[in-house]
Amino acid sequence: MLKPFTLLLAFLLTGCGTDPNTLTTGKQLFEHYCVTCHGIAGTGVFLKGIPANIVTDKNLSSIIVQIQQGSKPNRTGTKMPAFPNISDSAAKKIALHLLLLKKEYLQGKHRDKILLTPK
Ligand code: HEC
Repeated sequence: MLKPFTLLLAFLLTGCGTDPNTLTTGKQLFEHYCVTCHGIAGTGVFLKGIPANIVTDKNLSSIIVQIQQGSKPNRTGTKMPAFPNISDSAAKKIALHLLLLKKEYLQGKHRDKILLTPK
């Protein structure tokens, strides 16, 4: 709840010497790079054949590989593009955010809003 405010405060307190890029969270990166396809909560978009990624079986390092190298076409013939310009550390933050969304989903949060697109 307090997180965006805390980040803003940290930014203000540390002043101009801070690179704003270092404040970019996994959530912000996910919302920048991934939501157009996977949706804000990682549910996927049925009509485009894009699966929910919050129920992925992939572990942290395979998600990082998928982000940087893309994927092979899935059952519906759709594949994920590679993001070679996303650095290792940014890819890790994104993957951690995705795994957090997954954990929350498995704990039953947001289920009312979520209709998962199958693989
Ligand atoms: C242009 C559309 C597009 C974008 C943008 C995109 N993806 Fe995907 N993603 C796909 C498609 C299509 C698949 C299904 C192919 C597959 O099974 O790997 C997929 C599959 C995945 C999977 C595997 C899901 C599983 O079933 O295990 C993960 C994890 C994933 N995406 C993460 C991400 C992350 C993180 C980002 C942001 C950096 C992202 N995607 C951005 C289209 C996209």
